[in-house]
Order: sequence, then structure tokens, then C-alpha cells
Amino acid sequence: MGERKQDKLLNIKTVGIREWKDSKSQYNRYEATPYKALEVLCENYKFKDAYRVVDFGCGRGRVSFYLHNRFQIPVTGIEANQKTYEEALENKALYRAKAEHIPAPIEFNYGLAQHFKIDEKDNCFYFFHPFSVNIFRKVINNILRSVEKHKRTVDLILYYPIREYRDFLKTSTPFEIINTMKVPGGTDKDEIVIIYRLREEVLNEEEEDCLNIG
Ligand SMILES: C[S@@+](CC[C@H](N)C(=O)[O-])C[C@H]1O[C@@H](n2cnc3c(N)ncnc32)[C@H](O)[C@@H]1O
Repeated sequence: MGERKQDKLLNIKTVGIREWKDSKSQYNRYEATPYKALEVLCENYKFKDAYRVVDFGCGRGRVSFYLHNRFQIPVTGIEANQKTYEEALENKALYRAKAEHIPAPIEFNYGLAQHFKIDEKDNCFYFFHPFSVNIFRKVINNILRSVEKHKRTVDLILYYPIREYRDFLKTSTPFEIINTMKVPGGTDKDEIVIIYRLREEVLNEEEEDCLNIG
């Protein structure tokens, strides 16, 4: 089924691209995750365990609507482009007209991902190549600070993960890859979804090691 037809099933409009005016910006353009990538992800990952999914750079909200509709879980998106954010809100009104029976909330926030205050229960974070690795590093450090304060297992979902993101996670964080999925029909090697996990036990072990050294 085509992207527009899938949008129609959710009663939303997310097809298209929006470039930033400044092409050298650290912020990447809007383009939605393909539905075929969301399908492969949802067949291989247990969203039911998510307290809330946060989409950093949510665009017009496709990922939020799709997950909310399929799993009836709370979702939130953060978007830095005002026009795109307004389109996400318009989509929410259209979507909700047909999905008012699902009690879980959908929220969109206008602002920068690196300034977003992570809720102590947020445990699933989605990224489709939204910004430079410098900003990605800040967002991941915010997540790490949150889990140090409120210990819990958290997952990162990366669609189309660029090499710099992967290198940073590998060399500078305790996240581990738990699954890699190839998107069917994908034409280039980056058309994959990678799930990274940081387990609560690892955080507790790290704390015990610090106490033992101290
Ligand atoms: C490739 S799109 C992904 C859209 C959506 N996550 C999806 O997968 O369908 C990246 C989005 O991130 C937004 N973005 C870029 N930099 C951002 C920042 N610093 N904070 C929040 N959003 C940002 C862009 O405006 C764009 O809409």
C-alpha cells in the first residue's frame, strides 16, 4: 500500500519534505519514516512495554499516530520547525476525530529536542536522523542523566542510523545493541532500524562499583 493510502487510514497528512532555509543548519529536513520501516519495527519490538514513546524531531507526527493507533500507548513528539509542528497539531485533530476511543494521550511540543525535559518514566526514544551528532550527544546525555536519577531500563530506536550516531553510542555510552532490522526493499545499507538498550541492572552494577571503589 502506498504512503498516502496508509496516511488515509490514520486520517493524517504526513507525506512530503520540508527543508530548513539554512542548508548548513544542524537541524535536518522533515521527511517521515516510511510505513514499511514502521511495520518491520512493530513486528520485532514490544511496544506494549513502553510507558511513553518520545519521538525527537517528530515532524508531522507519523510515528506517533502509527504507534498510538497500533498499540494504544502514550506518545509524545518534539518538533523545532513551527510550521511542521502546526501540521502535527492539525493531524492530531484529524486523527482524534476518528480515534477518540483510545484513552492514551498524544502530545506534541514545539521546541528543541536538546531542551526537552525527560519524564522520569519515559523509557522509549525514537530518532529518524533529526539533527547533527552534536545535538544527538546532548539529547543522549539528557537521557543518561534522567536514568541515573530515576533508574530504569530504556531503549533507543534509530531508523536510518548514521555512522556518527552509532560510533558515539558505541564508544561513549553504556547502550548495547539488542536488535537490528533490515527494512524490506531498502535500497541502501543504512535502511535499517537498530534498537539500543540500557538495562537497569547495568546502572545498578555501575553504582555498586563506584561504592566499592569509594
Ligand atoms: C527526518 S525528520 C523525522 C520525522 C519523524 N520523526 C518521522 O520519523 O516521521 C526530522 C525532523 O526533526 C526536526 N528537527 C530537526 N532538528 C530538531 C531539533 N533540534 N529539535 C527538534 N526537532 C528537530 C526536523 O524539523 C524534522 O521535522
